[in-house]
Amino acid sequence: MKALTLLSLLSLSLSFSATAADGGEIVASRKFTGNQSCGTTGCHGGGTLHNESIIYARKDPHAIAHGILGKGTSLRIAEALGIKGDPIKDVQCNVCHSPMQGVSADLFVKDLKPDLGVGCESCHGAAENWLRFHTRSDVVFSQIIAAGMRDLNDIYGRANSCVGCHLNLDDSLRKAGHPELFFELDGQCMAQPPHYKDARPSLGPRSWLTGQATALREMSWKLSQKNDEHFLPRWKALVWLLQKTELGKTELPATEAFPAMQKAADEMARKASQKLWTTAAVQAQLRELSALHGDFEGAQSDKTLLQRKAEVLVPALDRLWRDLRKGGAPNQSECESAIQTLHLLAMDHEDFDPAKFANTLGQLKVALSATAQSTPAPKLK
Ligand code: HEC
Ligand code: HEC
Ligand code: HEC
Repeated sequence: MKALTLLSLLSLSLSFSATAADGGEIVASRKFTGNQSCGTTGCHGGGTLHNESIIYARKDPHAIAHGILGKGTSLRIAEALGIKGDPIKDVQCNVCHSPMQGVSADLFVKDLKPDLGVGCESCHGAAENWLRFHTRSDVVFSQIIAAGMRDLNDIYGRANSCVGCHLNLDDSLRKAGHPELFFELDGQCMAQPPHYKDARPSLGPRSWLTGQATALREMSWKLSQKNDEHFLPRWKALVWLLQKTELGKTELPATEAFPAMQKAADEMARKASQKLWTTAAVQAQLRELSALHGDFEGAQSDKTLLQRKAEVLVPALDRLWRDLRKGGAPNQSECESAIQTLHLLAMDHEDFDPAKFANTLGQLKVALSATAQSTPAPKLK
């Protein structure tokens, strides 16, 4: 558990272990029932409408998230960390790659062999208390949630469930060669092979903003625990970005005090999860962000920080643009190629070129302004 952050309070611990927030007795009777209890043919391992377990087993990277731990890169990371034996047995790795390995036996229903990888219950919550009754027609969703199923329909709850494994990494792991982790809820939800449909209005921008505010909360928590010179520019960059959003302008304090920012970011994430975006709002946000090219023009500025800013700005542009495009935006190819170029430039950690980035961002701004002129009057989606 030690590698986990605030999320352990907010989400994962709900299923992982007894915590103060959870209340001892509830947890004691809330046990894991395992993937196989979800995947029987009459349930989620059935026909086209009930094939969640099949999609998961065939396509989802979480089903094989433990597999990488036996491979060369992992063994090198493990060696650098002084981990003896199989990394899958070590909490520093299995907490994210195969969490059931680290759960004590009394949190499983009788005789259950812990699942490998990231299983259904790592996202949906320990199922013992709701498994039997959640399909009954006389039971409403809120009752199932009260019995411990995690509400992933709530975008804030969804962000909390993913961010725990997808952002904060102990610095020792990064130094040992683990790739840095980046959290962007909208894109990562799209990238997970879909075993559910979610076509709610403005889901993309909502998920993006909720996810980024959640990320800021987690980063603030991490930095409040221990200063980390490597991580700090990422935090600064995200604050910079979110202060350019309508919610961020009112919600986020102008402070470097991490606990205050943590609290404010959490509040912002909750609000962002509820906030619908009109087409006009998406356009206005995109215009505001593309007008930031001036921020990349100062040759004197700290290049590391600029690269980190680019790194959070590009996914923002990408997610907002994707939402706008659905309505058939003109200048599509210009916008897309600019975003693609920005993406490649932003990925260049070693040799980030702020001037080129600024220039391309300026081109995007021009292409987008044409979009704004020729798009019909905004409608509430
Ligand atoms: C905080 C959660 C977390 C912890 C702890 C963690 N990982 Fe990871 N790891 C991830 C995530 C998430 C990814 C996928 C990153 C991506 O693709 O964006 C990943 C990716 C990797 C990769 C690269 C996989 C690839 O396809 O390139 C390796 C190797 C790896 N982890 C090994 C380890 C080892 C070994 C440990 C223990 C020393 C460990 N991880 C601990 C979350 C974690
Ligand atoms: C990485 C996280 C993750 C894992 C692992 C995962 N799910 Fe989900 N699942 C989600 C999210 C997010 C949703 C969307 C919830 C919503 O909108 O109500 C979802 C939705 C569902 C739904 C609702 C489908 C619908 O159309 O309403 C079912 C059923 C489901 N999951 C079953 C499973 C089963 C069975 C497994 C394991 C084989 C599993 N999930 C593994 C994240 C996950
Ligand atoms: C218990 C930890 C855990 C949770 C919770 C979790 N993931 Fe993951 N996820 C991982 C690990 C570990 C990997 C890397 C697997 C590998 O590379 O082998 C991964 C990989 C992925 C990938 C493929 C790599 C990438 O970054 O594109 C996507 C997409 C993804 N997760 C999305 C999600 C989403 C969306 C949620 C929440 C609904 C979620 N995950 C929740 C641990 C987790």
